[in-house]
Amino acid sequence: MVVASDTEVVLYEKRDGKAYITLNRPKALNAYNMAMRDALLQVLGAVRDDPDVRVAVLRGAGDRAFCAGADLTEFLTAPSPTLARKARWDRDVWGLFLSIEKPMITALHGYVLGSGVEMALCCDIRVAAEDAQLGLPETGLGIIPAAGGSQTLPRAVGLGVSLDMLLTGRWLSARDALRARLVDRLAPPAELWSAVDRMADRIASLPATALASAKQAVVRGLDLSLAEGLELEARLARRLVGL
Ligand code: COA
Repeated sequence: MVVASDTEVVLYEKRDGKAYITLNRPKALNAYNMAMRDALLQVLGAVRDDPDVRVAVLRGAGDRAFCAGADLTEFLTAPSPTLARKARWDRDVWGLFLSIEKPMITALHGYVLGSGVEMALCCDIRVAAEDAQLGLPETGLGIIPAAGGSQTLPRAVGLGVSLDMLLTGRWLSARDALRARLVDRLAPPAELWSAVDRMADRIASLPATALASAKQAVVRGLDLSLAEGLELEARLARRLVGL
């Protein structure tokens, strides 16, 4: 369990080339609110710009949840859900997330709902504790995912599972999420942090420019035709060896 400070909604620590970003509203199951959005913009900017950071880890404080989705109390106190949502769109945290060229790992435990799933999808490698439960409750609330989820989810799991989750509101257990490729690895809950930390150590030991190029080739390549993707790969490969 991550030790939580009561005052900051997102904690940021740096150690040995690794940046740890911790969603820190454990009493509200780390629900994503506007204060968290503002804090995330700052820390993601730091991950992007700080040359000492070679890999970032995103996780949630407390033992119950990575993130239980958008803060429903903000939805309820705003003049309308639409305005609550617009306020969050005014600053493009998701665009920033997806623009980061460094490897990002996420450690998922407990409830991973709504924007929790979407944040996880902005990361490159998702490791889930065996107790994690993943779901997208948005349609049940009369809205749709809008932190990129309707686009990033099918890129990860394909059409069938995406539509099953969105149209039926079905939650996936960690094991089903692994089978569906929504998560990449599982760990026993007590070993989640150490498993992710070992992975981050390994990544931090590899050449940063090669990692950034590999990430770019794969992620950008997914949206290109094969011919364009091969051109991108050739360009990135040449650049790495100074040609
Ligand atoms: N926004 C704001 N607060 C939230 C929250 C959210 N999305 N999810 C949980 N919380 C708060 C609860 O209000 C509660 O606060 P309280 O102790 O002050 O009453 C606390 O977190 C614990 O949640 P609780 O509902 O008591 O836990 P539970 O184990 O009974 O249920 C969930 C857990 C995740 C099933 C339930 O909290 C839930 O359905 N949350 C909403 C999920 C959702 O729809 N997210 C929005 C997606 S767009």
